[in-house]
Amino acid sequence: MDKKVIYSAVQPTHCLTLGNYIGALNNWLQYQQEESNDCIFAIADLHALTVRQEPGAYRERCLSLFAQYLAMGLDCDKSILYFQSQVHQHAELQWILNCYTYVGEMNRMTQFKDKSAKHADNINMGLMDYPVLMASDILLYNSNYVPVGIDQMQHIEITRDIAVRFNNIYGDVLTVPEGRLGKVGAKIMSLADPTSKMSKSDPDVNATINVLDEEGVIMKKFKKAVTDCDNFIAYDPDRKAGVSNLLSILAVCTGKSIEQTVADCDGLMYGHLKVRTGEAVAAMLKPVREGYKRLMEDKDYLYRLAEDGRQRAHDRASVTLDRVKDAVGLIPRMGR
Ligand code: TRP
Repeated sequence: MDKKVIYSAVQPTHCLTLGNYIGALNNWLQYQQEESNDCIFAIADLHALTVRQEPGAYRERCLSLFAQYLAMGLDCDKSILYFQSQVHQHAELQWILNCYTYVGEMNRMTQFKDKSAKHADNINMGLMDYPVLMASDILLYNSNYVPVGIDQMQHIEITRDIAVRFNNIYGDVLTVPEGRLGKVGAKIMSLADPTSKMSKSDPDVNATINVLDEEGVIMKKFKKAVTDCDNFIAYDPDRKAGVSNLLSILAVCTGKSIEQTVADCDGLMYGHLKVRTGEAVAAMLKPVREGYKRLMEDKDYLYRLAEDGRQRAHDRASVTLDRVKDAVGLIPRMGR
């Protein structure tokens, strides 16, 4: 049976949040479990250079994200885990694909417009070219499915456009990928403003739970979680965003349905719901935090795993890049 290639990546900008864990990583873990999938998960460390990083802290954060991947259950024996910057084919394919991408298209990307507004003092070429690097990530591995959040769907669409455009000229060279949204209902909202998504870059520390937060910190943040002025528990994301967010988090952590969770919590005061949810989150994240600590104590081991991932990613990426170079008419190097 032909395996499906699943590809995704995260930028090493911040510690992963409970929202990433429930929304993205859990989803990746399910893909990883299925025999029929061939999963590749990268750390998009070139993408994150589009905003200024302090080198020492950045190196540490990149390795930390790798350890977080592993602590959450991504497994080098089942998936390829690697650092994007260690596989030079990404940047090379990006150059070639740049020549098949229009400035006007990049100019219209929502994320480019948002980020340009946010970093008005540093609207660099990388920021504008970000989607072409992402297209290169995906296309290098002949990816079939790309699990992402809704905010990344526009990037998947442009990846498809670029691949189709390229194939129209050169024949069937690139695999046209499909974006895959995670399950609905798994969207975790900010604890401080439950009408907006829990985001790893939120400046309000009480808004997000980091997957590495200690139990005490988790409980404190949940106790401060914004609810509403009623005094009854019901699942109604439009009118009771805060309470509904707590209920969905609790449901995910306990593996129960929303209906069952609402029934279990019937009659509880908000304060008790917060404590119950905080405890469930702390219990779920405990093994992640402990596994992470152990991994970070053995950096050589992490580097060895990363090197193994790099080699496997490199071998696959080089096949695609050579095919693309051939297609456009570049001279093959000797011995190939
Ligand atoms: N842009 C993605 C994000 O910020 C990260 C990313 C980089 C990615 N390359 C990718 C996601 C390739 C999927 C596939 O979330």
